[in-house]
Amino acid sequence: MASIPTRREAAERYANLPQVRRWRDGNYEPGAWFNSDPESPESPWGNWGREFKPTRRGITTVDLNRAFDDVPDQGAGLVVDRGGGADAGATRWEYPLNQRYEVWAYNLESLLEEAISRQWSATSDLPWDKLEPLPDDQERAMCQFLSFLHPVEFTPTDILPHYMMRVDPSFPEVRQFMATQCADESRHMEAFGKRMFANGGGPGIEPTAEALLSMSADTLSSALKPEDHPDVIGPTNPRATWEFLGMSYSVQMMGEAVVLDFFRFGEFLGRNPCDKEMFRRVLQDEARHVSFGTMRIKYYLDHAPAEERERALEMLHYFASVDEATASGFGLLINPNVIEPFALMAAGSTGELDKGWDMVREFWAGCVEEYLARCDRAGFPRRDKCLIPREAPF
Ligand SMILES: [Fe+2]
Ligand SMILES: [Fe+2]
Repeated sequence: MASIPTRREAAERYANLPQVRRWRDGNYEPGAWFNSDPESPESPWGNWGREFKPTRRGITTVDLNRAFDDVPDQGAGLVVDRGGGADAGATRWEYPLNQRYEVWAYNLESLLEEAISRQWSATSDLPWDKLEPLPDDQERAMCQFLSFLHPVEFTPTDILPHYMMRVDPSFPEVRQFMATQCADESRHMEAFGKRMFANGGGPGIEPTAEALLSMSADTLSSALKPEDHPDVIGPTNPRATWEFLGMSYSVQMMGEAVVLDFFRFGEFLGRNPCDKEMFRRVLQDEARHVSFGTMRIKYYLDHAPAEERERALEMLHYFASVDEATASGFGLLINPNVIEPFALMAAGSTGELDKGWDMVREFWAGCVEEYLARCDRAGFPRRDKCLIPREAPF
């Protein structure tokens, strides 16, 4: 380990920096940020003189991007907002995700705007005073169900930042949307945690969801190892792009979509205004995450160069087959610590369990159909390929 510099050595380093020396000499001439002529083609001030008038709504990203119309096909590789420039000779950084088609989504700006305007507080926006005591079996079922949903929220917050930092800063909306998703998931975790304690139940049994715990950027990366799947992934393919697509498929379009279906049913089954409102709010957020993943894959498939698109489709179908066959997303529906409490909530009481399980079977069929419709929308139809049983296997 290198030795720690002394205070004196550190002070010398500061003092010897070129700009510090210049300032110490009394030279305060500002740099290109001030001196360059915005009219010259080399000027970093790409947008100087352009003005945007707020609308009645204020300044929305939708309106701003419509007015400026300057989202480039390729990122600039600079750590500056779109339209900005750099000092002469500044490093251009090679962000692994630097093409618009690799990161953009059709409804990105409006999803972002919605995400920002619909942030809510698990502390004060849920009608906690309207939470009512439930029969013991129902409270236990609800808390066990929430014990599963609580760690589910870790999955996107663990994985998304890995991709956020790889997106070229010319596309800040993509990073911002993923940041709002992380904030959403954190709030969901908070709401579920508070709900578990609010009615005398508390966290139950770990849902033994190996799939959840093992899901990470590393897993996605190794699932796409070119040497393992030479027919699908070639060594010249942009790995980050495949992985990011794989993430949008398995996390946002598959896993979170199943969770969204759970939330919808949770709202339907909620026995008091507080439980209903909690599920209503989380499902609104969750729908955005699923929509982003789906519309991002569609944007990619519509805009990638033809050959890359063909290989991406192969990869997505391969990835989907593995996911479907190993019950990755749908594993949640055959996990006893998840689906048993869910069936009991659907039943309404232990005496009606048969009825509850019938509803779970309907739920299964509905989830598969939703999933297939989503694949259609994203542009990689799976109806004749899907390996998930259309009917519940129980
Ligand atoms: Fe969530
Ligand atoms: Fe989510």
